[in-house]
Amino acid sequence: MITVFGSINLDLVTRVAQLPRPGETVHGSDIAQFPGGKGANQALAARRAGAEVRLVGAVGQDDFAGQALSELRAAAVDLTAVEERGNTTGVAVITVDEAGENTIVLSPGANLRCEAKQIPGDAFASGGILMLQMEVSEQETFAAARAAKASGASVILSLAPFQPLAREAFSDISVLLVNETEAADLAGQYGIAGAGHEDVVQALAGYLGVTVIATVGADGAAASENGGAVIRVPSPKVEPVDTTGAGDTFAGVLAAGLDAGEDLASAMGRAAVAGALACTKEGAQPSFPTGAEVDQVLAELTN
Ligand code: RIB
Repeated sequence: MITVFGSINLDLVTRVAQLPRPGETVHGSDIAQFPGGKGANQALAARRAGAEVRLVGAVGQDDFAGQALSELRAAAVDLTAVEERGNTTGVAVITVDEAGENTIVLSPGANLRCEAKQIPGDAFASGGILMLQMEVSEQETFAAARAAKASGASVILSLAPFQPLAREAFSDISVLLVNETEAADLAGQYGIAGAGHEDVVQALAGYLGVTVIATVGADGAAASENGGAVIRVPSPKVEPVDTTGAGDTFAGVLAAGLDAGEDLASAMGRAAVAGALACTKEGAQPSFPTGAEVDQVLAELTN
């Protein structure tokens, strides 16, 4: 089973011709509302890929909470460890430009009140996977990692939104997910050099003693386990409509594959396809593919 400890948001989205510069006002489309939040997104993506998933998090006592949880409920994600804490559900104000790129302003609300102790005591009785991101309290995130690792679970951390962390912070992490820019920033912080993103991923994985996976946009993803040989997977070519949630989709589908016993390369291959498909529709959660949709594109890629 996969346990996701993380954020739950309602996304308020407007489309613009070009993202505004500092001090500039631009016209946007009518506001659209979508369930979002990196934790909730990862949980839904893993569930749509066929995994049993529990989400641990917090929403506020407001009208946004029901909307934020609606897709997760419909997909039968276990929400028994989602608690009401405080008045306001997390909200993300998102602008998306014509190329599908976005900017996000996050108002965390209840997300900052969620605690590691909400995770059921028997959550990792038979191992399993814990998924973490950086949109809830850092202290609670790493407390959850400690508890999961001590119980024999594997811990996947998406370092999003990016934060420069000390090397010691990764002692309970099994898999670190970053994009290529974040990989380079983190490596730079540790004084590690690399000729290209594959070298950087390999050096970072060796330095931290974890598996590092870096998404490389339209070029797929690259990984190294503890500094070992680099694994590369491609991404199908798509016309991006909205890239919101693509990284979360990659993370959720990767975890679903690993939970089902797939090897790293095959789980990454499925995750890269799912991440690309998530860019082809508006909004985060409505764009996440099912396992069958990923299979179909994978079959086309290999034929
Ligand atoms: O990664 C995309 C997500 O980031 C959005 O759904 C938004 O809620 C923000 O958390």
